[in-house]
Amino acid sequence: MRKYRIGILGMGTVGQGFINNYHLNKEEIDYKIGGELDFVNVLVRNTVKKRDVNLDKKVYTNQFDNINLKELDVVVELIGGVSSAFEYIKKALENGCHVVTANKELMAKKGIELIKTARENEVLIRYEASVGGGIPIISTLNDSLSSNKIERLMGILNGTTNYILTKMTKEKMSFKDVLKEAQELGFAEADPTSDVNGSDAAYKLAILSKDAFGIIVNPEDISREGIRNISLEDIEYGQELGYKIKLLALGEKSNEHVELSVQPALIPVEHPIASVNYEFNALFIEGNVVGEIMLYGKGAGSMPTGSAVLTDVIDITRKKNDYIGTCSAKDIVVNNIGRSAYYVRMEVVDLPGVLGKIAVSFGEQGVSLDSVVQRARGGKHAPLVFITHEIDRATLNAVLESIQKNNYVLEVMSIIRVVN
Ligand code: NDP
Ligand code: HSE
Repeated sequence: MRKYRIGILGMGTVGQGFINNYHLNKEEIDYKIGGELDFVNVLVRNTVKKRDVNLDKKVYTNQFDNINLKELDVVVELIGGVSSAFEYIKKALENGCHVVTANKELMAKKGIELIKTARENEVLIRYEASVGGGIPIISTLNDSLSSNKIERLMGILNGTTNYILTKMTKEKMSFKDVLKEAQELGFAEADPTSDVNGSDAAYKLAILSKDAFGIIVNPEDISREGIRNISLEDIEYGQELGYKIKLLALGEKSNEHVELSVQPALIPVEHPIASVNYEFNALFIEGNVVGEIMLYGKGAGSMPTGSAVLTDVIDITRKKNDYIGTCSAKDIVVNNIGRSAYYVRMEVVDLPGVLGKIAVSFGEQGVSLDSVVQRARGGKHAPLVFITHEIDRATLNAVLESIQKNNYVLEVMSIIRVVN
């Protein structure tokens, strides 16, 4: 029986899911690949740590140089971060190993360089688990939708923040408590800042920009806003107005530019993406031929992510093609004009006529309003919530700045995009 010799870098949440998935379905997988996977080396920091996997103790090492790359067929990188992971993957490719990785930060920042190195060395690099955990997003865009031009993407691409927003909405839990839970469940990154501030979703959107639009972007050029400032109050007002709040990654391509952004957004409750809860992710795709498609599934966690990693390994044994995409659009500019409807919540002085004055100020400055909610609290101050019609974000900011100069407006508490 053919043995595929595998080296694994990292044996944490995803590494254990990968191994456990193989052992769970070994008989069927071995049949599909006409052989079996042989886990020859596992690189970790702590070789004596107890792990929830059935692997021989002898395979563990904490020195990358102890791994003989020449003897391996596939290297699976699951340590995360950029510097060591990049160095190890590059060496693996140069030594003729195929590579599978779940590392979105690395693929977003250095993916093209690694794909080119793989091509030069006639090996493959696969990264399905890097976007959407267990959902087959990368293969769908590159294979199943290759007949289409992708025009628009709308995604919930971060499981941790979706878990937090869902728990805040359904159970009124505090942000801090839910984040701790998401960490314990293995959804969050080693440093959860990148989940919470939108960077993790921005890395995933940068990868999708290549695979959906054929455009390579620097992930730092993607504007992002996290969920730290989303309050229970905003969630409740959103619900009252018929919306859910989600951290959305948006991509839209025209001939001249691609608009890419990550931000919390209000979505009408009837939109399919509004019903994506907990650690589930979804990608809503608009292709110029196929129309609308939505991919949905668990975007984080040990087994779902391990399933995507293992599928990539299986694909490699079946010698599928690489995913360089059509990275040709050199003159396309990344921007974020942010033209959209917006939800604005402000704290105002609770006096008769204030609502009217503010509404008139909006109108005089060219911002038309879709809806207004005012809830008296019985004190000196009251919250006012507006939903605007479509407007550029910079224009809205300028108008709000001028309105805030009136002494009856105390503070603009939230500005959240509304997406249809
Ligand atoms: P964990 O922190 O759970 O595991 C990381 C593993 O890598 C640990 O076994 C650790 O060793 C080892 N490691 C880390 N740095 C080094 C190093 N410099 N040298 C040797 N070993 C090292 O991470 P996850 O499994 O959660 O994530 C792995 C990758 O998968 C990341 O890129 C992440 O973004 C991505 N990912 C994670 C998902 C999830 O749901 N968790 C989902 C999709 C992608 P030790 O155990 O000894 O500390
Ligand atoms: N930390 C990531 C998330 C893991 O919460 O979505 C999956 O990429």
